[in-house]
Amino acid sequence: MSIPKPVYNPPFNVTRASHSVLTVKDLAVSRNFYVDLLGFIVSDEDSDALYLRGVAEACHHSLVLKRARGEPQAERVGMRVFSDEDLEKAKAFFDKAGLPAKWVEVAHQGRTLHVVDASGAPIEFCATMVVKPRLVVAFEHHHGAVPQRIDHFQLLVPDVQRACEFWMSLGFRLSEYISPDGSEELLFVFLQRKGNPHDIVFAPGAGPRLHHAAFSIPESYHFFYVCDLAAEMGFAPISSSGRAAMAPATRSSSTCAIRTATASSSSIPITR
Ligand SMILES: [Fe+2]
Repeated sequence: MSIPKPVYNPPFNVTRASHSVLTVKDLAVSRNFYVDLLGFIVSDEDSDALYLRGVAEACHHSLVLKRARGEPQAERVGMRVFSDEDLEKAKAFFDKAGLPAKWVEVAHQGRTLHVVDASGAPIEFCATMVVKPRLVVAFEHHHGAVPQRIDHFQLLVPDVQRACEFWMSLGFRLSEYISPDGSEELLFVFLQRKGNPHDIVFAPGAGPRLHHAAFSIPESYHFFYVCDLAAEMGFAPISSSGRAAMAPATRSSSTCAIRTATASSSSIPITR
């Protein structure tokens, strides 16, 4: 095991984590959770899908919820590339690597390429989306946690080393990693393209499965407020004090488990 070398001239230019596509059983319940509670902005909706974005985002969507029968699943993780020329280069790269890659039509996006990565995770690349108003100072639209923008994804995969090598071959840089003392075995890897700590994280586990998609919020107050609101709305346990019941360290560590409206398990199967 070893830490892969950075690739300074990648085969195509991925610029950032873009969006995820999840299936849900009941769009109305999911709307209640993601829009009424968490505060996502609705860019578009119909009877089969909900397209959401954060208040600082001009791109059409960073989270897509699709109505489907069966257990909720993560259908796809989306990455943005710089140009349509990069999409052509990506197609050639995946074809040469013998990995699935096909052109698809996706609502509200420009040309889109569906691929499967070295871990078997379904990934979507696009260079453009319909542009919507950025609502970062339109305060009448702010509520809940006021999600700002998508930050990163975390995926569970059985072979973290392999995932790290593959994504670093695409130009992703290793910003942090976790390994046992005295070893370079890669247990967790944090990989980035956009210049902040991470766009995609790989952790060990049966998979590929989506562990979470993370969004930035303005400040920690919104986090605690939305946890209490979640308890009041029935999405989180409530304590005897009338506030959201949290693990002992939670109120000082800014993490909280809120039961999502899409799944009750801690990770979501990612399907092809
Ligand atoms: Fe995370």
